[in-house]
Amino acid sequence: MKNIDRLFVLKSLMQHHHLKNYLEIGVFNGHIFFRIKSNFKIAVDPDFIFGGGRKATKLLLNPYNIYNQYFEKTSDDFFEQDGQRLFRDKKIELALIDGMHECDYVIRDVEHTLDHAAPNAVIVLHDCNPQSAQAACSFKEWNYPGTWNGDVWKAILYFRSQRKDLTCFVLDADQGLGIIVKQPTATLLPYDKEQINQFTYEDLALNRAEWLGLQPPSYFYDFFKIGA
Ligand SMILES: C[S@@+](CC[C@H](N)C(=O)[O-])C[C@H]1O[C@@H](n2cnc3c(N)ncnc32)[C@H](O)[C@@H]1O
Repeated sequence: MKNIDRLFVLKSLMQHHHLKNYLEIGVFNGHIFFRIKSNFKIAVDPDFIFGGGRKATKLLLNPYNIYNQYFEKTSDDFFEQDGQRLFRDKKIELALIDGMHECDYVIRDVEHTLDHAAPNAVIVLHDCNPQSAQAACSFKEWNYPGTWNGDVWKAILYFRSQRKDLTCFVLDADQGLGIIVKQPTATLLPYDKEQINQFTYEDLALNRAEWLGLQPPSYFYDFFKIGA
């Protein structure tokens, strides 16, 4: 079985489910973004870590990069200023949400993405399964360059508690890959936003499997009916 990471998940969904229109929030140096093969690719980050030289090299390596559209701004500004125009005719089919790893930012990024998403869209979230309190700390507390997952996990708990119109779970791979699709869920967890705000990393550690809907990596193939 292949190593399941975010790039593999994105590429497999494009190949097997024919999802094309791609949005990435939080792009950094484009390690994932430049590898995506789609003629509608949107990159959003207030601080791209690449310039013209890297763009040119990546265009040679993957000609689809000719279609890239770059928005050097926060995701909130992006959705407010550009969302309606960009996604009026072309709906988002596949998104990687990997920007600011704080719960409220992640909730907004997911909700804004859902507003512009096709019915069959898949949203992938990175950093959903922190392995230590340190990795789950706030942005202010983050001791760069150590691993920082923040409290993206709280956004997963929020969607698993509050949105019965969505199916949301986490693959135990690549720092925790959250998956959100527009399919009603059979079970909701009982937490409201205030309770979720109060939970700590220690609470997560005690309830990890249930709160995250944690699944082995191979569940990716089962859920999306893809042959391994
Ligand atoms: C972990 S990196 C993204 C890595 C990339 N997706 C990958 O897989 O290689 C997080 C990025 O989020 C960006 N970011 C921080 N705050 C943001 C915001 N409010 N909106 C969008 N991106 C943000 C940072 O500038 C940083 O480049």
